[in-house]
Amino acid sequence: MKIAFVGKGGSGKSTISSLFTKYLLDQNLAVLGFDADINVNYLQNIKINAKEYLAISKSNNSEKIKSFLIGNNKKIESINHFIKTTPPGQGSKYLEYDKNNFIIQNFGQKLGSGYFFYVGKYESNGIGTSCYHNNLSIFENILSHTKLKENEYLVSDMSAGTDAFSNTLHAQFNKIILIVNPSQESIKVAKDFLQLGKDAKTEKNIYLAINNYEDQYEIDFIEKNLGKKVDIYFEKNKIIKQKSLFGQEISLQDTNYTKSFDKLLKINNGYDDKCIIENLKLLHKKYSQLGYIIRRIGDVSLQAKD
Ligand SMILES: Nc1ncnc2c1ncn2[C@@H]1O[C@H](COP(=O)(O)OP(=O)(O)O)[C@@H](O)[C@H]1O
Ligand SMILES: [Mg+2]
Repeated sequence: MKIAFVGKGGSGKSTISSLFTKYLLDQNLAVLGFDADINVNYLQNIKINAKEYLAISKSNNSEKIKSFLIGNNKKIESINHFIKTTPPGQGSKYLEYDKNNFIIQNFGQKLGSGYFFYVGKYESNGIGTSCYHNNLSIFENILSHTKLKENEYLVSDMSAGTDAFSNTLHAQFNKIILIVNPSQESIKVAKDFLQLGKDAKTEKNIYLAINNYEDQYEIDFIEKNLGKKVDIYFEKNKIIKQKSLFGQEISLQDTNYTKSFDKLLKINNGYDDKCIIENLKLLHKKYSQLGYIIRRIGDVSLQAKD
């Protein structure tokens, strides 16, 4: 199962996603963790030192990853024809939870039963010219080419706001945990996210989580304003606040979140892997027809044909 954490900056994405990761690791479950935020707080929270040379978006790394994933897929002529919406096909290779998998061997950092990856920060030669979205496209390729068994989890801490709709990320997770705080700003971002999910017809994968709240009236306020029930609850926690101020590691035992994570695993509106591939193919049809894609690499729309 692929799970992402989204929401306004400061809503608690990195805190909650790293605690959720610890919850899975404590049970010795298979985890592939991705820090897809430019600030790399997720890896920092689980005390993994993000090694620059392992960043999957570094151009020589992303080229190696693309070549591996293309495998023997005849529909992809070259790595230049492998665009962010390209779906897997016959002959494709995948990221799988296996210590011998090419991507794990070359770019993963191990912690317990998990392997961890990071997308990358801005490189100084990109200042003023490059946008973080370019870095994310290799993550989009990996996601569409990841095969997980039951009880294997891909967890991703994402960049802030509604960014996931400017690329395929909104469609590529079985569950998107939309974190909202009791604040007007956070509610506004959540509202936009939910609306975009409806417009994209992918809203089935969005679950609402309230974080850093103290009172029932805050839950009521959020539910009323978003017209949606809260699915998962994370109370304000003094130890989290204190420890994060002093840069100390927060453990699951500092919180009472275990039941909330049990619920996170259990709730299921049925956005399965079939939904992911169907939506990816729709996005591919649309993206591959853009003028600049056709001018650059020709018509690759047939990559999505069965
Ligand atoms: N449930 C909580 N209780 C207390 N403080 C929290 C809680 N969740 C997050 N915080 C604090 O809020 C701040 C922002 O959280 P963070 O996870 O970094 O947000 P994001 O990744 O969404 O930008 C951090 O200082 C964090 O310690
Ligand atoms: Mg963060």
